[in-house]
Amino acid sequence: MSSTPLKVAVTGAAGQIGYSLLFRLASGSLLGDRPIELRLLEITPALKALEGVVMELDDCAFPNLAGVEIGDDAETIFDGVNLALLVGARPRGPGMERGDLLSANGAIFTAQGKALNKVAADDVRVGVTGNPANTNALIAMTNAPDIPQERFSALTRLDHNRAISQLAAKTGAAVTDIKKMTIWGNHSATQYPDIFHAEVGGKNAAEVVGDQAWIADTFIPTVAKRGAAIIDARGSSSAASAASATVDAARDWLLGSPENDWVSMAVVSDGSYGVPEGLISSFPVTTKDGDWSIVQGLEIDDFSRGKIDASTAELADERDAVKELGLI
Ligand code: NAD
Ligand code: LMR
Repeated sequence: MSSTPLKVAVTGAAGQIGYSLLFRLASGSLLGDRPIELRLLEITPALKALEGVVMELDDCAFPNLAGVEIGDDAETIFDGVNLALLVGARPRGPGMERGDLLSANGAIFTAQGKALNKVAADDVRVGVTGNPANTNALIAMTNAPDIPQERFSALTRLDHNRAISQLAAKTGAAVTDIKKMTIWGNHSATQYPDIFHAEVGGKNAAEVVGDQAWIADTFIPTVAKRGAAIIDARGSSSAASAASATVDAARDWLLGSPENDWVSMAVVSDGSYGVPEGLISSFPVTTKDGDWSIVQGLEIDDFSRGKIDASTAELADERDAVKELGLI
């Protein structure tokens, strides 16, 4: 592995997710022993708090943290970055859907897409965690015409991990025995966590569960509404689990997905599985050497078809809404 530091930008670095994410990145969860350089973007009023977080990073004496730069100017912070983790955006509160954040957060991603387009490294990969993540990724991608579209993705790995955990609890299997989980569509309540292609200990997961009512009435809504359940319980949205999923997604993107398995990533659709071309929608993907490809050839029954179509229809509505707002 290269010993040149990977330049990793994190936006919203003084926020809740940032407080967990930065320490995971710096301690080697992303790249093991390869050094990384952190470049942290915040809005001006949050820079003082961010200075405190950087003092804590210093105090950890992480051996592979090659440097930290902070600032409120996107073009300065994104200069030469190989990976940009776009976390900074307002979270929703109780009673809101993530899509309600479109007008508040969308504009952040036009400016950041433009800045990345101008100054990021040629090999940049951009992962969007800030909500509504899929459509924010679409906004950033559209505003960065010189960066190949496949370099943008939105985070559905948290949903993927939640789905694995729920299925493990139901079947009594270890999370490591569960493979080929898929999240389709939007990181929203319409997402479709699909276990019809998943495996538990090498056997078809839906057959192991053997209970269609549990899949439709318990599993799918529990995963799809887990973010809201956490907001209700914690009073603020998921942070450590979101940071962990952000690291999982970036690590697999850069280093490759596990053998005989796949991961869920929201990426630009090429029309696979009837998802309208150009939407950033979650798919089962394999990754290798920094590239992803959508797993092909899965059979989609009527139940799954309806769920995928409902979520991608919502994505199309979000795209139309941000077009109307002049963001793409
Ligand atoms: P937070 O409010 O604690 O932190 C957000 C930070 O972003 C703040 O420090 C704020 O100052 C900063 N920020 C705002 N505008 C910015 C800009 N233009 N540039 C740089 N920084 C900016 O929120 P959080 O809990 O860390 O969540 C961040 C986002 O991640 C929210 O939108 C939340 O809904 C989303 N989220 C997504 C997932 C997912 O799975 N995709 C999971 C959890 C949270
Ligand atoms: C989550 O899934 O936990 C996040 O997207 C936060 C939210 O608003 O649900």
